[in-house]
Amino acid sequence: MDLQGKVAVITGASRGIGFAIAEAFLANGAKIAICSSGEEGVNKAKELLLSKYPGADIFTAAADVSKREDCERFINGAAEHFGKIDILVNNAGITRDTLVMRMSEEDWDAVLNVNLKGAFLMSKAAVKLMVKQRSGCIINMSSVVGQSGNAAQANYSASKAGVIGLTKSLAKEFASRNIRANAIAPGFVKTEMTEVLKEDIKKTVLESIPLKRFAEVSDIANAAVFLASDNAGYITGQVLAVNGGLYI
Ligand SMILES: NC(=O)c1ccc[n+]([C@@H]2O[C@H](COP(=O)([O-])OP(=O)(O)OC[C@H]3O[C@@H](n4cnc5c(N)ncnc54)[C@H](O)[C@@H]3O)[C@@H](O)[C@H]2O)c1
Repeated sequence: MDLQGKVAVITGASRGIGFAIAEAFLANGAKIAICSSGEEGVNKAKELLLSKYPGADIFTAAADVSKREDCERFINGAAEHFGKIDILVNNAGITRDTLVMRMSEEDWDAVLNVNLKGAFLMSKAAVKLMVKQRSGCIINMSSVVGQSGNAAQANYSASKAGVIGLTKSLAKEFASRNIRANAIAPGFVKTEMTEVLKEDIKKTVLESIPLKRFAEVSDIANAAVFLASDNAGYITGQVLAVNGGLYI
């Protein structure tokens, strides 16, 4: 129970990696606040989590992380409900994959707004409280392609590289207030985001992964539990790659 008594806010937790992190945090004793852009998704997630952890204290909200008002409403609502926020996981993310020659300005803006601006807006709202508490932990979801780049993912790769810069800057800016900031850079994880990829692409990716398997969502959730715990108390400004050796 590495997170006993801690309060964690997780964005994009209606499914996939975010949901797995929510589940792992509950299993480790945390109280959680979860959001996703749609009300229905986040309510279903809460129901499912409650069926596994009856009586768990779960705060939910529909919040679009690319909108400042939504971020502030969600963070302040969670803080009012629980009295504090110890951990923020900026997990919400989208893809709009296509080659640069075909990529519209809208494709670029949409991905940057959710993946990068969303992490900034949520972090800004949360650190206001964490600074007063003189403690906090931020975990930002980057990606292997933020480190390596990827054809047909210029917008996504740029957003995930930006998340690394944001993480390192947060770490430097708030270390004196006992706030840590780290990023996780997953490789290829089995979720609905990657389910849409064509079989031949999946096969090529699989062949290039030294551990010869895609990540389970639990592989990423385990890394998040570690970074959020006091066991990682001396780790800040780092990018934890969870990629099966895909990018070393
Ligand atoms: N799946 C992978 O292989 C992989 C690899 C590297 C990084 N990641 C990153 O991990 C994170 C989660 O990925 P996933 O595969 O679970 O994705 P997913 O598509 O399964 O889930 C994304 C979640 O984000 C939420 N979301 C989307 N837009 C939002 C918005 N504007 N405001 C609030 N919530 C929003 C969705 O409702 C959903 O809950 C993302 O940041 C993604 O970029 C995923």
